[in-house]
Amino acid sequence: MALFNKKSNEKNLQIKIPEHLGIIMDGNGRWAQKRMLPRSAGHKAGAQTFRKITRYCSNIGVKYLTVYAFSTENWKRPGDEVSALMNLFKSYLEEALADFKDDSIVVRFIGDKSQFSKDLQKLMIENEESSKDRDGMVLNIAMNYGSRDEIVRAVKNISSNVKSGELNIDDITEETISSYLYTSGQPDPDLIIRPSGEYRISNFLLWQCAYSEFVIMNKLWPDFTTDDLDEALEIFSKRNRRFGGV
Ligand code: FPP
Repeated sequence: MALFNKKSNEKNLQIKIPEHLGIIMDGNGRWAQKRMLPRSAGHKAGAQTFRKITRYCSNIGVKYLTVYAFSTENWKRPGDEVSALMNLFKSYLEEALADFKDDSIVVRFIGDKSQFSKDLQKLMIENEESSKDRDGMVLNIAMNYGSRDEIVRAVKNISSNVKSGELNIDDITEETISSYLYTSGQPDPDLIIRPSGEYRISNFLLWQCAYSEFVIMNKLWPDFTTDDLDEALEIFSKRNRRFGGV
C-alpha cells in the first residue's frame, strides 16, 4: 500500500493510500432540495465533484477508483431525473472524460451497458477503447450497475462454462468467482467512502467488499472536497485491518 507524503493533522500518523478506493456518490438530490433547485442541478454539481475528486485520487496514487454513478435500481426514478442524468453522462463522455487523458487515466464502465441509448453505449465503448493503453489510475464508472445483477451474471457464465466442459466444478474457487465479475483482475476495494451520512451499501461491490473498510462522511456529495477525502484517508489509516486474523 502506498504511503502519502502529505502531513496528517495528527503527528506521527502515516497516511495510507488505498490501492482500490470505492465511492458511493450520494446526496446530490438533497443538496439541490436544500437550495430549492431541481434534483438535476444536484447531479450537475455532483459531476463537478466527481471530476475534481477523480483527478485528486489519481494525483495521490490511488491505483483503482470505482465510483457509483447509476444503479440498476435508479431507473425507478422520475423520467425527467433519469433523462437529466443520461444527458449529463452524455456530455461528460463527450467532453470531460477527455480531460482524464492528461492524467493517463484508464476509463472503464462496469455494469450492463445494453440498457443505455445506442449513442451513450457508443461513447462508453469509445472512452474505454481510447484510454485502454494508458498507464495511470483505472477509473471504474459503475453505470447501470448492481452487485446482485453482477453475481447473477457470473453464476450464469460459470454454469454455462461448466455445462460446455470448459470449467470443472471442483476447480471453482473464490478466485474463479472474482474473475467472472466486472472487476476481474483488480484488487478488492480497501476503502469505501459514502458521503451524505447514509449507512448503506446499496448493492455496490457486494462480493468485492468482504474486507473493505467503510467511512461514512456527513457531507453531501456536491459539497465533498479534497480535504474531506484527506479526512477519510486519515480515518482509514488508523484502522487495524485484520482480514479475519488477529
Ligand atoms: C445519488 O444521489 C447520485 C446519483 C444517483 C447520481 C450520481 C451521478 C453523478 C455524481 C454524476 C457523475 C457523472 C459521471 C459521468 C460519472 P441521490 O440523487 O440519491 O441523492 P439523495 O440521496 O440526496 O436523493
